[in-house]
Amino acid sequence: MASTVLVTGGAGYIGSHTVLQLLLGGYKAVVVDNLDNSSQISLKRVQELAGDHGSNLVFHKIDLRDKPALEKLFASEKFDSVIHFAGLKAVGESVQKPLLYYDNNLIGTITLLEVMVAHGCKNLVFSSSATVYGWPKVVPCTEESPISAMNPYGRTKLFIEEICRDIYQSDKSWKIILLRYFNPVGAHSSGYIGEDPRGIPNNLMPFVQQVAVGRRPALTVFGTDYGTKDGTGVRDYIHVVDLADGHIAALKKLSDPSVGCEVYNLGTGKGTSVLEMVSSFEKVSGKKIPLEMADRRPGDAEIVYASTEKAERELNWKAKYGIDEMCRDQWNWASKNPYGYEPPAALEK
Ligand code: NAD
Ligand code: UFG
Repeated sequence: MASTVLVTGGAGYIGSHTVLQLLLGGYKAVVVDNLDNSSQISLKRVQELAGDHGSNLVFHKIDLRDKPALEKLFASEKFDSVIHFAGLKAVGESVQKPLLYYDNNLIGTITLLEVMVAHGCKNLVFSSSATVYGWPKVVPCTEESPISAMNPYGRTKLFIEEICRDIYQSDKSWKIILLRYFNPVGAHSSGYIGEDPRGIPNNLMPFVQQVAVGRRPALTVFGTDYGTKDGTGVRDYIHVVDLADGHIAALKKLSDPSVGCEVYNLGTGKGTSVLEMVSSFEKVSGKKIPLEMADRRPGDAEIVYASTEKAERELNWKAKYGIDEMCRDQWNWASKNPYGYEPPAALEK
């Protein structure tokens, strides 16, 4: 019988790509999402892309903090494991509204963990972030590098990691994998699913994509005086489909008897500057991205990239795609869906 995976936040950017890979891999995926930062259309498209496997996808509109609703779901179905993506992720907003972030991300997670225990499901894969490395003194970041938080969003990731380590210490029958994502970009090669942020994008590639389709006049480059090859910030960009495959590898690892509570970086191990990223995007899209050079963005690190050795060795997983493929697929998605999943009514044909 196919293994059944509960995917929280599965309608979102990384979640929708992971649900597709789960379905194609023969899993049954049950998604819970409050649609706070996503559209159910993403899941309809995932279902179509999954072909015959599409019928193995079920969606429930539930907020994770709604314990009775979560209880009811767990009582109605047995889950072999949970992949927990659901959370708010805008760094700036978390500084303005810390309580919202602590309530949504921490209470949501604690509620989920309580209901999991009550129903005997103790297999978890959690979306952590490279944000826990703060401004790293040494790169590449290994899983043993010091961790810290620079803002309330980052603190929720740090706290949840610690909560997971604590519950494992208290009950060794838990199996938990904490995945620290570096910078997910790109989209499924069909151009049918991709990232569709609400409001002004905070992150580099969604902003570049909106400039390319004419929604914004120029990209502001935050900082040109870093000690990097061209003065702009360096990050480890990873194709979202590679990231999704990393979750399948983590799920498989959960059945290894040696696993307790483990942490893995999911990145490519390569650092790319803002200007290199823009240049690759211009090359594959044929679009000129006008730039406005500006001061550093407060809280930004200079250079962040991953050591990928542990994931390669223990998860048997390695990112396949390079920068040009990430930009190509980002542009394919953007050009086919310039206003995301739900264009303003006035723009619909
Ligand atoms: P996303 O916003 O596209 O997806 C998150 C989903 O969770 C959304 O569909 C949202 O509606 C849902 N959600 C939020 N709070 C909820 C709640 N209380 N109950 C039910 N559903 C809720 O974000 P994403 O980029 O797909 O990120 C997924 C996870 O990965 C997040 O935890 C994020 O912090 C983490 N992460 C993302 C990045 C990145 O750059 N995208 C980097 C590192 C880590
Ligand atoms: N940048 C610009 N202009 C923009 C947006 C970003 O120049 O409009 C620059 C940033 O200064 C940085 C690089 O592009 O040098 C990448 O910035 P992102 O905002 O795309 O990504 P960050 O690495 O700053 O942060 C993201 C998420 C965090 C997450 C982290 C690691 O926002 O939540 O990746 O996963 F923790």
